[in-house]
Amino acid sequence: MGCSWFLSWVLLLLGLLLLGTCWSVDGLGVNWGTMAVKKLPPKIVVQMLKDNGITKVKLFDAADDTMVALAGSDIEVMVAIPNDQLAVMGDYDRAKDWVKRNVTRYNFNGGVKIKYVAVGNEPFLETYNGTFVNITFPALQNIQNALNDAGVGDSIKATVPLNADVYNSPNDQPYPSAGRFRSDINSLMTQMVDFMSKNNAPFTVNIYPFLSLYGNDNFPLNYAFFDGAPQPVVDGGTGIQYTNVFDANFDTLVSALKAVGHGDMPIIVGEVGWPTDGDKNAKIDYAYRFYNGLLPRLASNRGTPLRPGYIEIYLFGLIDEDAKSIAPGNFERHWGLFREDGDGMRHE
Ligand SMILES: *[C@@H]1O[C@H](CO)[C@@H](O)[C@H](O)[C@H]1NC(C)=O
Ligand SMILES: *[C@@H]1O[C@H](CO)[C@@H](O)[C@H](O)[C@H]1NC(C)=O
Ligand SMILES: *[C@@H]1O[C@H](CO)[C@@H](O)[C@H](O)[C@H]1NC(C)=O
Repeated sequence: MGCSWFLSWVLLLLGLLLLGTCWSVDGLGVNWGTMAVKKLPPKIVVQMLKDNGITKVKLFDAADDTMVALAGSDIEVMVAIPNDQLAVMGDYDRAKDWVKRNVTRYNFNGGVKIKYVAVGNEPFLETYNGTFVNITFPALQNIQNALNDAGVGDSIKATVPLNADVYNSPNDQPYPSAGRFRSDINSLMTQMVDFMSKNNAPFTVNIYPFLSLYGNDNFPLNYAFFDGAPQPVVDGGTGIQYTNVFDANFDTLVSALKAVGHGDMPIIVGEVGWPTDGDKNAKIDYAYRFYNGLLPRLASNRGTPLRPGYIEIYLFGLIDEDAKSIAPGNFERHWGLFREDGDGMRHE
């Protein structure tokens, strides 16, 4: 079967997800959020994952019904501690208890294949005004130490999914090789990265080319996609030509890590995707164009200029979530590869 039958969004989605048909992406992951008015039964979602060859899933909690549905599935799982529980994880006994109830409880033959614990979700977003800045690192340390004490720290790593606004390049050197952690949290990021490195844990970052475009009419549209930009951005430090913002953003992080002595730290892209409604750039043909560039790149293990090779990546997201806050924009409820009812039949 070729790829020419991608005639509609329906077929696109099925084609994307029936990995192995066109692009065989090793170990593609998706985010499974559950902020929907009518939640799909977890068993059905797990079946959707299996049917579509998805082998990794990232959660936003460790809800019991989700975990029970995942048990025995062989799907690798990132469970999560929501931001509103970070403060209590500063208490080591509470962290130990959390690990016992949400991790080790499922760690048996035929249980859930937990690989990561996400400590918070984008806690250093500037819009949070520093609310989680002092409590995230203690929570990260306590959770990893509790995993280590429980004897599962070799295979289960704590990490913090961060928004790409934790790093940037200076205005006078606006290119990836000059990337540094944001100055207000640079020393905190340095300590966190040291700690994660000591525990062989990966750095997790969410990268959204759509958001680069959103509300910025000067952003060159083609640069958000992967099919080439007429005017590449030339890195003033390395001379590398960047034709898409995903690579540029990822390599800015690689440089920021290098600047704090951890240029080789594994990086997971915790979220990447394109919404299908709710903004002039949130539409099906752009989502198609985005995934149609992203997935073959992942399949080819091309990586980025500064980090060639396999990238562990989680698409955002599996299902539309119609109960999500639309404070960031109306597009927030339309990130899904599937609609709330699990129907892939998207057509406008
Ligand atoms: C952790 O497990 C407990 C007990 O099942 C549950 O009440 C709690 O909601 C779980 N935590 C998360 C973040 O899902
Ligand atoms: C952050 O500060 C701004 C301006 O003071 C305020 O409007 C906003 O509600 C604050 N956000 C949070 C999450 O506290
Ligand atoms: C975080 O800690 C610093 C230094 O102790 C303090 O100045 C700041 O107010 C704290 N921030 C919050 C949100 O608690």
